[in-house]
Amino acid sequence: MTLPSTRFKAWRVEEQQVDGKTRYVGRVMERQVSELPPGEVLLRVRYSSLNYKDALSASGNRGVTRQYPHTPGIDAAGEVLHSDVPEITPGSHVIVTGYDLGMNTDGGFAQRIRVPAQWLVPLPEGLSLFDSMALGTAGLTAALCVRKLLQNGLRPDDGDVLVTGASGGVGSVAVALLARLGFSVHACTGKSAAQEFLHTLGARSVLPRTALDAPADRPLLKERWAGAVDVVGGDVLASVLRSTRAGGSVACCGLVGSPDLPVTVFPFILRGINLLGVDSVNIARAEKQALWHALAGEWRLPVLPHIAHEIGFEQLQQGLDDLLAGKSTGRTVLRL
Ligand SMILES: NC(=O)c1ccc[n+]([C@@H]2O[C@H](COP(=O)([O-])OP(=O)(O)OC[C@H]3O[C@@H](n4cnc5c(N)ncnc54)[C@H](OP(=O)(O)O)[C@@H]3O)[C@@H](O)[C@H]2O)c1
Repeated sequence: MTLPSTRFKAWRVEEQQVDGKTRYVGRVMERQVSELPPGEVLLRVRYSSLNYKDALSASGNRGVTRQYPHTPGIDAAGEVLHSDVPEITPGSHVIVTGYDLGMNTDGGFAQRIRVPAQWLVPLPEGLSLFDSMALGTAGLTAALCVRKLLQNGLRPDDGDVLVTGASGGVGSVAVALLARLGFSVHACTGKSAAQEFLHTLGARSVLPRTALDAPADRPLLKERWAGAVDVVGGDVLASVLRSTRAGGSVACCGLVGSPDLPVTVFPFILRGINLLGVDSVNIARAEKQALWHALAGEWRLPVLPHIAHEIGFEQLQQGLDDLLAGKSTGRTVLRL
């Protein structure tokens, strides 16, 4: 069914009381453009994608989304329908990731969004709208992690690098990107079935999560990794830091395991390792644009079709449930 241009479909999450318990239930609803928040640019969203933060928003996490009903979706790619600013022309293809999209601003799980002009990045030549969401916030974050590692001097001949949560969104793009850049990549995963997937992305070896997630009784372990990308936090990140080689760097961007970090200062003061914090949400627009250009050009991933799969609204709830349960593999693109 085609809706008139002022009406569109959106996936709304509502708060419901059932048997004295609060539940968060998502469903497709028809909405009006006039119900969207104010903003300079109205977009026809072609694709969005599923990120861990969307699963938190859709399940009532107040640290992500304060008020319901709400439309999640921290990513969106599509074409400009209307613009109040001269530099953004109707018909142009753009990407929106991060800022407040899908958190407390109606997000990309909808056929229309309205956002401030400074949230937009032009779709770079070399990427389709689908490709941009196959990468999405997860891909941008992986690229940011890799760039920080490179800026801190990590080079392929320094030795083995590790990616944790490797079969997830950030992890799978990080594995593919590091392998593409010539690193010897080792992938740590909780999924025994993900071996072949990770080898296809370029991982040299696959480690079970149990190799890293036990609390360690020693402040330092054998030096193993020249660098790492960690999405897990907690005991896994602590174990990575304890086994990073002298002078090595670890990019920390996630907390799927735990927000805690049970580690001593010894890896830092006896091995001089660098712990690099990564935030993709509020980075400067110029920096974002440069990363998207890299991902469309010299960092383009030939394996991206192996990483991403496409779903419609009817599979969205299952996709989010899988993300929250740590069962998701690769990236999920939502077709609008
Ligand atoms: N800093 C930023 O700007 C930024 C941006 C994007 C995402 N993030 C964060 O990065 C993390 C990953 O996001 P994502 O979108 O890639 O999520 P995702 O697709 O769900 O991937 C997370 C992966 O982590 C592993 N995992 C899940 N639960 C775990 C647990 N309890 N203990 C250890 N490992 C577990 C699983 O991979 P395996 O089965 O392969 O181990 C899972 O597939 C999240 O914490 C997210 O908030 C941060």
